[in-house]
Amino acid sequence: MAEKSTELIHSAMITKDPSKLRLKPNLQDYEQSRKNFKWSDADNMVDWFPGGKINMAYNAIDRHAKGKKKDKIALIFDDGQGHVEKFTFGQLGALTSKFANVLKKLGIKRQERVFFFLQRSPELYAGFLGAIKYGAIASPMFPAFGPDAIRDRLLDSGAVALVTDSELKSRVYEVKNLLPELKHMIIVGKDAAAGELSWEKEMAEASDMFDATPMDPEEFSYMLYTSGTTGKPKGVVHAHKDIVQIHLSTNWVLDVHDEDVYWCTADLGWVTGVVYGVIGPWSNGVTQVGLGGRFDPERWFKTIQDYKISVWYTAPTAVRMLMAKGDDIPKKYDLSSLRANYSVGEPLNPEGVRWAMEVFDSKPFHDTWWQTETGSILITNFPEMPIKPGSMGKPLPGVEAAIVDENGNVLPQGEEGALVLRPGWPAMMRQIWNNPAKYNEYFKNGWYYTGDTAQIDKDGYFWYVGRADDVIKTAGERVGPFEVESALIEHEAIVEAGVIGKPDELRGNIIKAFIVLSPGFVDSPELKEEIQKFVKKKLAGHAFPREIEVVKSLPKTRSGKIMRRLLRARELGLPIGDTSTLED
Ligand code: WTA
Repeated sequence: MAEKSTELIHSAMITKDPSKLRLKPNLQDYEQSRKNFKWSDADNMVDWFPGGKINMAYNAIDRHAKGKKKDKIALIFDDGQGHVEKFTFGQLGALTSKFANVLKKLGIKRQERVFFFLQRSPELYAGFLGAIKYGAIASPMFPAFGPDAIRDRLLDSGAVALVTDSELKSRVYEVKNLLPELKHMIIVGKDAAAGELSWEKEMAEASDMFDATPMDPEEFSYMLYTSGTTGKPKGVVHAHKDIVQIHLSTNWVLDVHDEDVYWCTADLGWVTGVVYGVIGPWSNGVTQVGLGGRFDPERWFKTIQDYKISVWYTAPTAVRMLMAKGDDIPKKYDLSSLRANYSVGEPLNPEGVRWAMEVFDSKPFHDTWWQTETGSILITNFPEMPIKPGSMGKPLPGVEAAIVDENGNVLPQGEEGALVLRPGWPAMMRQIWNNPAKYNEYFKNGWYYTGDTAQIDKDGYFWYVGRADDVIKTAGERVGPFEVESALIEHEAIVEAGVIGKPDELRGNIIKAFIVLSPGFVDSPELKEEIQKFVKKKLAGHAFPREIEVVKSLPKTRSGKIMRRLLRARELGLPIGDTSTLED
């Protein structure tokens, strides 16, 4: 690390003429705010209960449901198959209260874990926020997860209740006998079996009056499992207090205004879906669209047109996929409603920013950087700020970010090193569930280590370089090599496996596996295909190796750890580096 970089990517800066912006940005003067802002300034953007208590879901829904926005549309839900439902803040207030009452009736205790394994649906929004309103810890799981991924999460968290549906529940039953703490299965879809509760029946019977539980700001609101280099996915736990920064960042970065129609494309199983696809926009009282179904370029452009989306938050892989379809498709639609576009999850290529300038009538993408652990956008391109295509932008006021060397010394501008943050921003994770040692690994020399490498240019813009660890970002989704390796070696044909991310034009990275075959098995396309299906079924559709290479042995340290760094270097023709710990 810490090599002197000779040159930063130079791309033409996109400047903005304030008089041409359709609406005045909520954050007027970035540099000024960065100088003067204190986190306590943001406290009055949210509602508090007496005694310094707070509730994240109360802020997202109830304060509007009880106020002037009671009859404003909060959610336009389009299932992607022609069925559209609209919900006002008042209606979401009632639905979340109903679900909180269901949890009360079941005797769920404060801070117990309530999980959701559902496709994007009104029930998912209502259930997730209802659980937070109640004082449980809510966690949605990505609906493409297979049985192993489900088991890891429910087991580690000790979840006591799970809301799923009649289609997805079979994957849960494959591992249900390994989950002694899971007491309640609530099934959406009218065909609950014996031993299950029916969502429809319970919700119909529950009262729609429930006063959000006043929580200590440090009590937990939601958790999400995410991947690291080693071990199983870890449960990143967030507090009710996060709402302060979630509200502020949605307001300043995504710059939502009362008249906006906002659309975040991320699934609720990922942090972007939770923070900026549920909590932040609603805390700001904005109408948002939720689109079900799979990625489909025509449907996406049609969604922007039909609902007059004005603020759009999506991901680079989606942008590249839209770009790959050519410019004729967007030309068929009226996209003039768009006011601002944002992206997150992986580096956004300068071409993506420029493509947007052409296709969306001079509305570029604003790249935003953050992590499941950071709980909020931390480095970003603000609406009032010129964009340097390819750069992640600048830190949120109140956030100190730096580039450091191995010893935590701050490096001068232009040098590449570890991207670190000064701990203490309100939305920072509070815990790794059940694993204080893992939590502590993030902090060293007074810094929080992001695991990313980056550099800062002379104007203070941050540029992403890569990951400092083995975490793979494929199509914007975070995958741990260990999880994939563990799934692979459960296949009878595989003795050992090493997994890396391999750069890919469309997906950012694809997962590549190097495997050593068990005696008696021979390399064939059929075997590889079978192995891919096997991993897909166990883990998830996005977490299988798109490339598999059979090798005789894997490079390992003397203590037996697979050296993924070496596999990657070989694959990409990079310098092999220090191999002194390598086994013979
Ligand atoms: C990567 C997603 C480049 C980065 C919200 C980070 C990015 C990890 C960007 C977190 C960006 C996120 N440019 N890389 N704008 N945003 N990343 O937890 O490696 O799923 O550490 O959170 O995604 O992924 P996570």
